Amino acid sequence: MSIREYTGDSPLQIGLLGFGTVGKAAEQMLEENRDWIERRAGGPLAIKRILVRHPGKHRDDARRLTVDPFEVLDDPDIRIVVEVMGGMDPARHYILEALRRGKTVITANKEVMSSCGQEIFRAGDVGRADIFFEASVCGGIPIIYALKESLAANRIRSLIGIVNGTTNYILSKMTHEGWDFAPALEDAQAKGYAEADPSADVEGHDAARKLAILASIAFGSRVTPNQVYTEGIERVTARDIQYARELGWSVKLLAIAKEGDEGLEVRVHPTFLPQDHPLAAVSDAFNAIYVDAEPLGEAMFYGRGAGGKPTASAILGDVVAAARNLRSGGRAVSCTCHRELSCRHMSEVSTGYYLRLAVFDRPGVLARVAQALGDQGVSLTSVLQKLTQGDQAELVLITHRAREKDVQAAVAELRQLAVVTGILNLIRIEGVV
Ligand code: NAP
Ligand code: HSE
Repeated sequence: MSIREYTGDSPLQIGLLGFGTVGKAAEQMLEENRDWIERRAGGPLAIKRILVRHPGKHRDDARRLTVDPFEVLDDPDIRIVVEVMGGMDPARHYILEALRRGKTVITANKEVMSSCGQEIFRAGDVGRADIFFEASVCGGIPIIYALKESLAANRIRSLIGIVNGTTNYILSKMTHEGWDFAPALEDAQAKGYAEADPSADVEGHDAARKLAILASIAFGSRVTPNQVYTEGIERVTARDIQYARELGWSVKLLAIAKEGDEGLEVRVHPTFLPQDHPLAAVSDAFNAIYVDAEPLGEAMFYGRGAGGKPTASAILGDVVAAARNLRSGGRAVSCTCHRELSCRHMSEVSTGYYLRLAVFDRPGVLARVAQALGDQGVSLTSVLQKLTQGDQAELVLITHRAREKDVQAAVAELRQLAVVTGILNLIRIEGVV
């Protein structure tokens, strides 16, 4: 019997690669809702084998645990492989091997899917095997299904998301509770939101991977993380957050993708966002994706994007879809990229800017600063001066929409001015004309 011709009433056997936060939550969800899930899947499900690195640390039936990936990959009874180990290799290798053997793969791995999506889909096509990856972006929010299927007839104009729970949690705690960065990160780690190496969250790489996956589907053109301009939240201070609030903005790590006449704009960076924007209200570890599409208009997808239970919800939704396909002989949609758009270099992108400078508090300083910006065609909408210490003041400048290249040239000029003692921060603003 070919692996694609499964029709039996015996349990559909599953192999787990990884048994950490997500793997354990997925098993627990299956155990607690077995009757319900199996009815929807069309028959019984069983987790036959679990790959881990350190079997001794797991309190599980030792016969199910293995350190040998081929006990999963080469087992003909195992028809669904759930990869929840994370990282690039060996996870990528195991996913490819499972697909080549005709096994359905379900993965939460944004690192692999964002950088190697094309290779993975090809292996699935060769093995005639389905690949599901809803859990790789925004945990429990069904955004991949929505973009691939429900919105397939729309042209997406833009997609703006809060796609990293850890950084949204940190920024929310800094904004609403006055917490410092370090305890907020520790708390996010304790709650299971952060990646094994939290620098992927804090430096924006996790969000860039998720944006690459979403943009590829939304615009039908493959985007990889190295094309996404990426800045993390490390430089955002309590002072920046305080100024943002005074000026009517919230500070969020946004993942932004837009289609224009000159290709795609794909970027992840801390952003000032008007407080009345629907994304501004998204707090703690919640995620949201705000889509503007033709003819749909605006739509927002909101929910829990990190942590064991929300991610297990996406994994088990994919298990049900996989089981239905295996039982009916149907196939999931493979790669949806059908054109090749270029990604604009960040230097060509236009947006609003917040600039915080340390300057000498002397006559003529403001004029010199405004001149440096004006020389590059960067126009100001507002200026705030806050006295700090002695003859030093802090200047907060807000620009009209300006080109990144021009703003960076103006910043380089400002650095040369004797009256400017420091460029304290530069944060982009969404929604400025
Ligand atoms: P985790 O808690 O660190 O668990 C990883 C598991 O994989 C552990 O059981 C580990 O074994 C096993 N493992 C790792 N490398 C292995 C190797 N080379 N060989 C065998 N086993 C290996 O990770 P997680 O938080 O569950 O995340 C898993 C995946 O889900 C990642 O791709 C992550 O990006 C994604 N994800 C996570 C979340 C979240 O909120 N945590 C949300 C969405 C997506 P040992 O236990 O023996 O060490
Ligand atoms: N570390 C990720 C986050 C987990 O904080 O959003 C979900 O991918």
